[in-house]
Amino acid sequence: MEVNSLRFEPLEIREPLGILLYEDDWQNLDFLGSLKDNIKRLADAEGFKGKEESLLKLSLIHGDNVRSFYLLGLGKRERANVDSYRTASALVAKRAQKDGAKSLYLYAGSLDYKLSKAITEGAILGVYRFDKYKTKKEEDDKKNLQELFIYGGDEEGIRVGKILAQAQNFTRDIVNEPGNVINPVTLAELAQRLAQEYGLQCKVYDEKEIQNMGMNALWSVGKGSSTPPRFVHITYRPEGEPKERIALVGKGLTFDSGGLNIKTGDYMRTMKMDKSGACAVLGIMKAIAQLKPQVEVHAIFGAAENMPSGTAYRPDDIIRAMNGKTIEIDNTDAEGRVTLADALSYASNLGVSRIIDMATLTGACMVALGEYTAGLFTNDEEFGEELLSLSKETGERMWKLPMDDKRLREKIRKGDGDLLNSGGRYGGAITAAMFLEEFVGEGIKWVHLDIAGPAHLREEFSYYSKGGTGFGVRTCVEYILKL
Ligand code: BES
Ligand code: MG
Ligand code: ZN
Repeated sequence: MEVNSLRFEPLEIREPLGILLYEDDWQNLDFLGSLKDNIKRLADAEGFKGKEESLLKLSLIHGDNVRSFYLLGLGKRERANVDSYRTASALVAKRAQKDGAKSLYLYAGSLDYKLSKAITEGAILGVYRFDKYKTKKEEDDKKNLQELFIYGGDEEGIRVGKILAQAQNFTRDIVNEPGNVINPVTLAELAQRLAQEYGLQCKVYDEKEIQNMGMNALWSVGKGSSTPPRFVHITYRPEGEPKERIALVGKGLTFDSGGLNIKTGDYMRTMKMDKSGACAVLGIMKAIAQLKPQVEVHAIFGAAENMPSGTAYRPDDIIRAMNGKTIEIDNTDAEGRVTLADALSYASNLGVSRIIDMATLTGACMVALGEYTAGLFTNDEEFGEELLSLSKETGERMWKLPMDDKRLREKIRKGDGDLLNSGGRYGGAITAAMFLEEFVGEGIKWVHLDIAGPAHLREEFSYYSKGGTGFGVRTCVEYILKL
């Protein structure tokens, strides 16, 4: 979809026109001149007040023509934030698309860089659909909103917003692909194509190289599948000396059946999304390659399929990970942290000062925080706070969980190896994070995001549709841009 900025010329109303309004505040209708009173009366009659996420469509005769207006609520002025604009823009773009509009005009008062970016992101995220496998598309699914014009939009905000939202939609597209299409081998090929397209360096390690590098943890999880695992490393290097070096690590389970500790049907459903962390990392690289920050960025993931078979790893197995630590397998369904062990060790050897990992790691995190919020874990308070404060603007909800509980930490130290891959039911998201921390190199600042909940949704809301969300892409890119 194209997004453009437009100057408002009085007396020339283009339509359909979306207008964003604060609750009980009609100021943004002032620009309509004589039409304002008519619209306000119609809105009153329909009981529209500008409440958050409310939408009213109005058609009225103006001169010789019928004009369509969409009124969008931002909620109370003092409570609204950047994400309110993103959401309102998504709702109107989605609705206009459904109504068959090819272009849409949007008025939201005076706009700065941030708001223009948010509106652009909202619209592009809002019209997203994953319908490539629908042979016969419903009438609604054929309609495409092609152009958005934002009155007084900031050009740079629109440019960056477009890149961010398209990168997030790219991530959603991969997450939504099922396990029979995206497996470890095809995911690695996709990464290679992305790198080629944007001139990034990319190295893919096959199952032999994985074993030769000592990545027995990743290999153990992957070897039960008839599609072998892959290890992917993409690098973005800025011209000249980088201000910082950062690694992004994603969990890349293209399907998680649970392995020999097999999941029951209900829990196995949607486990194609267990690669969401890796997909987010790819989306981030797509954006970074276009935005070109003065930061060296490494994208890393192990791709594997967790399957039960005669070659699958077993409960009781003891595995030596790449950094030399031994892991006793308590449960083959706690596989993500086992693959991440080697990915984090590898990332720690690249000379980076920071690592962010994203993983659909635990159901326990969803029990703790619900399905709309990611768990944030860190070994560096300041790093964690920076991401938390950015997440308030990106709308990607994150909440910090503690890492300082020494007694809880003991739960992963039981058993015959150095570490046990499961610490039991209680505090399951935290013990998983503590396990990961064992593989982060000395002195490296690290944040772990458990995105099990928000990476994939069973129902649409705001700018998300059902399925993959691309959660984490915008917050991480914004963070890198600020470094
Ligand atoms: N991929 C799952 C976690 C998950 C669950 C993600 C639901 C998204 C939605 C992970 O590999 C897993 O199975 N975790 C187990 C760990 C347990 C065996 C210690 C879990 O959360 O039940
Ligand atoms: Mg699992
Ligand atoms: Zn998993």
